[in-house]
Amino acid sequence: DWNMPDYVGEAVDRIRAQVGHEEVILGLSGGVDSSVAAALIHRALGDQLTCVFVDNGLLRLNEAEQVMHTFARNLGVKVVHVDASAQFMGHLQGVSDPEQKRKIIGREFVAVFQAEAAKLANAKWLAQGTIYPDVIESAGAKTKKAHTIKSHHNVGGLPEELNLKLLEPLRELFKDEVRELGVALGLAHDMVYRHPFPGPGLGVRILGEVKAEFADLLRRADAIFIDELRAAGWYEKTSQAFAVFLPVKSVGVMGDGRTYEYVVALRAVETQDFMTAQWAELPHSLLGKVSSRIINEVRGINRVVYDISGKPPATIEWE
Ligand code: XMP
Repeated sequence: DWNMPDYVGEAVDRIRAQVGHEEVILGLSGGVDSSVAAALIHRALGDQLTCVFVDNGLLRLNEAEQVMHTFARNLGVKVVHVDASAQFMGHLQGVSDPEQKRKIIGREFVAVFQAEAAKLANAKWLAQGTIYPDVIESAGAKTKKAHTIKSHHNVGGLPEELNLKLLEPLRELFKDEVRELGVALGLAHDMVYRHPFPGPGLGVRILGEVKAEFADLLRRADAIFIDELRAAGWYEKTSQAFAVFLPVKSVGVMGDGRTYEYVVALRAVETQDFMTAQWAELPHSLLGKVSSRIINEVRGINRVVYDISGKPPATIEWE
């Protein structure tokens, strides 16, 4: 149990001693860990830090704007914003296998990040938001040969060729400590207490082939769901909640017309460790409100269903 203000000071001193006057790059994803790492390293090193934010076209609604707003505008962090959505979409075209999609998204991220890193020729350090549970997990994976159901790609695993020294200032912290640290560094509560979001993003929430058009519909449906959960006080009571795009069309009726449009599934779970999970018993009135808002506001979706599967046997994500 740390005293956070003291901890910030000690962590800042440690980073300064470690890095000296050299330059650091960090892949900012918008997630909690890389965000807190960026804020901490920026506190310690100011302009010696450059963040690279890659928009893969599979982020949540307004996520790129929020990241740029928080880091570049409010905190004054140097952030290179790379819009690589077209590149990601191009490589994902025609690919429907979930693991294949994960591989492509992970590989393209590394390619884009590497190209940006090459432009920052002075950088000597690669910073990552690795936290203590990641350290344990990868140690376990090496010795036990982890039995993986899904290849969880994260921002980590950047290739050695970058020839950079690793800076991992969150390595000894648990998730709740990382969140406290984020708040102590002035990051917004809502961002620091956000539900987890998978590395491949909407890429594994659009079943089958990923298309920009599907991602646009899903982003808007998901934002409505999350807004309503927050407004009803259910966001904090669930561990993870999101919408899933089903590339299936069904018939509906609107006004005097017949519609033939796509389906969105809503998923909300409660879990301690994400290894097992229960579906959240959201109030029917809340589900009804989310459903009618999605169908009325997102043209292209005419049906909303709620996922009532536990893990196991279902997983939290649909892919
Ligand atoms: P599942 O679907 O396996 O998800 O029950 C458990 C937790 O892991 C997240 N998840 C991922 N995170 N890359 C990630 O960084 C991935 O490929 C990935 N797949 C699943 C999921 O969101 C949940 O929190």
